[in-house]
Amino acid sequence: MNIQTTSPEFTNKSEDVPFEIDELFFSRTDERGVIESGNAVFRRVSCYDWDNLVGAPHKIIRHSDMPKGVFFILWERIKKGLPTGAYVKNRAQDGRYYWVYAIVSPIDGGYVSVRLKPSSPVFETVIAEYAEALRSEREDGLTPEQSAARIRDRLRGLGFPTYAAFSSYAIAHETAARDHALGRGEDGRTQSLKLLLPELKSIDEDQKKLFVAFEAIRGIPSNMRIVASRLEPAGGPISAISQNYRLMSNEVTDHLGAFLADGGKRNLSESILARVYHAMFIVAASRVQREVRTVAQAALVSGEERPGFELETEILTTVLEDYTRKSAETLATVYHDIARLMQSSKDLKQLVTGLDSIRVLCRVEAGRLGSNSAALTPVIDQLDRFHIEIDNTLEQILEHADEVKDLVEKAMPRTVNRTLLPKHGGSASRGRGFRFA
Ligand SMILES: Cc1cc2nc3c(=O)[nH]c(=O)nc-3n(C[C@H](O)[C@H](O)[C@H](O)COP(=O)(O)O)c2cc1C
Repeated sequence: MNIQTTSPEFTNKSEDVPFEIDELFFSRTDERGVIESGNAVFRRVSCYDWDNLVGAPHKIIRHSDMPKGVFFILWERIKKGLPTGAYVKNRAQDGRYYWVYAIVSPIDGGYVSVRLKPSSPVFETVIAEYAEALRSEREDGLTPEQSAARIRDRLRGLGFPTYAAFSSYAIAHETAARDHALGRGEDGRTQSLKLLLPELKSIDEDQKKLFVAFEAIRGIPSNMRIVASRLEPAGGPISAISQNYRLMSNEVTDHLGAFLADGGKRNLSESILARVYHAMFIVAASRVQREVRTVAQAALVSGEERPGFELETEILTTVLEDYTRKSAETLATVYHDIARLMQSSKDLKQLVTGLDSIRVLCRVEAGRLGSNSAALTPVIDQLDRFHIEIDNTLEQILEHADEVKDLVEKAMPRTVNRTLLPKHGGSASRGRGFRFA
């Protein structure tokens, strides 16, 4: 499915400007988005002369089918220094259109946007979403900001908690589809991060289950005490057990704080997930940056580019180095936090074992009371279920976390400054450090 321009102005211009899937092109702008340079493919596809492009605002190639909300999100993010991916439909000088997936990177004094031909199934969804966004902007009179909020809402509905999460998903799929079309293997680092996402989501769900389970047993000691008051004189063994259970379970519940991040605002696994999305974007983008740099260097050598093009290859190199460093730094924090999460899970397991001995005592005491203890049975059954669930959940967290550590190691850049990495002690469970190829 493709959106075709139907206004009379474009009746003969509803074709796309051809470019090959192996072609990459870029443009560089100042801080306001005024074009300063680019490569020969950018000029060719836009159908403008350099004289028209250099010094012009980038909206010179804006297509009227593009929702304003998309540019609002783009600018909001890049102004904060965040590299951002976006699908963009552009209008060439002769009125024809071309779609790109653009990776916009902040650089000193401006931005550089590297573009590839979109070909993944995500692109189809985006075309439909953009058409809807455009319709809303026109019919409901949405401002760019309102449209941006609506786009983010739609993305949440599609399972992407943030625009960054969507960008990461899109770039991973676009680069994989492009690699496939070019008969190349998928990038191993990006693939590892893709595999890591479901593991982290499982950890996140398990973590939430833990919180719910602990919340559910809060009332147990009181229930026990009420039952005890009917079964025994004040201060009897069941009351003492319930008292102990309350004290210990409070200690265990306090420990759940170790599973929170950002001053308790969100789950540690959620915070890790956000960083993995960020790393996934950078890792996939750096592969494209490496390729465009290679292409630019070759074009420079063969004299296909304009005089002064050396500067562009230097800037592309800086972006690539920046991405390599940032991906290592981000993944190092993920590795560190996963090790922390594993340690907290082990500590919690140990604490729950202590709590478990009180549960066993309670069972013994109920047995001693014989048929009189019937009222205790549901409470003890609830405790049994709780202990089994906690044990299984913690075990699952540990298994998934171990897998995450493995995948983070695989996603680490090969050439990286060792001082950026966390201490090897962090690799707790199996005593492994990072691997370097
Ligand atoms: C590095 C960079 C590349 C850009 N590339 C494009 C582009 O290819 N097409 C486009 O329409 N806008 C592009 N923009 C966004 C434009 O600056 C502008 O926000 C957009 O065309 C919408 O124009 P408007 O905000 O005046 O409606 C780019 C911006 C930057 C910083």
